[in-house]
Amino acid sequence: MTDASHAPTSITLVRPDDWHLHLRDGAALATTVPHAAAQFARAIVMPNLRPPVTTAQLAVEYRQRILDALPAGAAFEPLMTLYLTDRLPPEEIVRAKAAGVVALKLYPAGATTNSDAGVTDLRHAYPTLEAMQKAGMPLLVHGEVTDPSTDLFDREALFIDQKLIPLRRDFPELKIVMEHVTTREGAHYVRDAGPFTGATITPHHLLYNRNALFIGGIRPHYYCLPVLKREVHRLALVEAATSGSGRFFLGTDSAPHAAHLKEHAVGCAGCYVAHAAIELYAQAFERAGALDKLEAFASLNGPAFYGLQPNSERITLKREGWTVPESYPLGEATVKPLGAGETLDWAIARG
Ligand code: DOR
Ligand code: ZN
Repeated sequence: MTDASHAPTSITLVRPDDWHLHLRDGAALATTVPHAAAQFARAIVMPNLRPPVTTAQLAVEYRQRILDALPAGAAFEPLMTLYLTDRLPPEEIVRAKAAGVVALKLYPAGATTNSDAGVTDLRHAYPTLEAMQKAGMPLLVHGEVTDPSTDLFDREALFIDQKLIPLRRDFPELKIVMEHVTTREGAHYVRDAGPFTGATITPHHLLYNRNALFIGGIRPHYYCLPVLKREVHRLALVEAATSGSGRFFLGTDSAPHAAHLKEHAVGCAGCYVAHAAIELYAQAFERAGALDKLEAFASLNGPAFYGLQPNSERITLKREGWTVPESYPLGEATVKPLGAGETLDWAIARG
């Protein structure tokens, strides 16, 4: 449907999936699961709980807690992941595959929230990576070096040179997803790396550059890892997402933290976007004049990379301004969503 100026007033898409999502656990699930299920048919659920999800058994139990938090009648399939450690036994990959686990997540130790149990040296994990390559189990990568002497803004580009290029060489057929890619270097690496490499891109990295962290004072709700970068990088991500390349797909990295723990002397990293993810992506794609590329990015490229079918239902977005609430409950605390108090142009048509 279009109005006189040819700007569409609604768009209909195959129902999207979220290929990178933090749902947390316990009481938080009452907020995060309904938000995700209102938008997406499936989501890849990150395993960085405390303690981390390191066995097939823990993943199966966590999956059930997620399903128990679904609103009545909601259809939503959590796709579970395991947390890679230095010593995850290769046999666990076979058990994980049999239990329906779809991928493993690599957190370099110390890179981000709950990453202390992560990998200290990728060579320790080589037998497990071998088993993954054999099983066709993708490796989802938090692509930042952790050496504290490196500049925070350079950590993704350094990771590509120091870790990803050697990993790709040693495991040529391991499916690798560079999660939440944030730089021009990352986008170009993935664009050129061949069919076994993909990347997710968050709505916040498409909409904001690092200035957002400092407008009029420090803005902790825009702080996530990898951190927002310069405008030149944001533009490269927009170009990648809207290019039509199947290597790039939707992954929100929605990562809720209690507001008081972000508004803190040592604020937590993570932006909460699950309340309005597809609306935020629509905003970014429309600003780039590329709404026609949204469906491939949001609904088709991810399933194709993972060897799954796209969803059969559709959703409709209407051009209908709405104001994002200032907060949502998160257990006994609250979470401040991205865009709190701001008006978004697009809304999911309900019912
Ligand atoms: O900002 C982030 N928050 N980046 C991550 O990699 C983890 C996430 C979280 O779990 O809070
Ligand atoms: Zn994440």
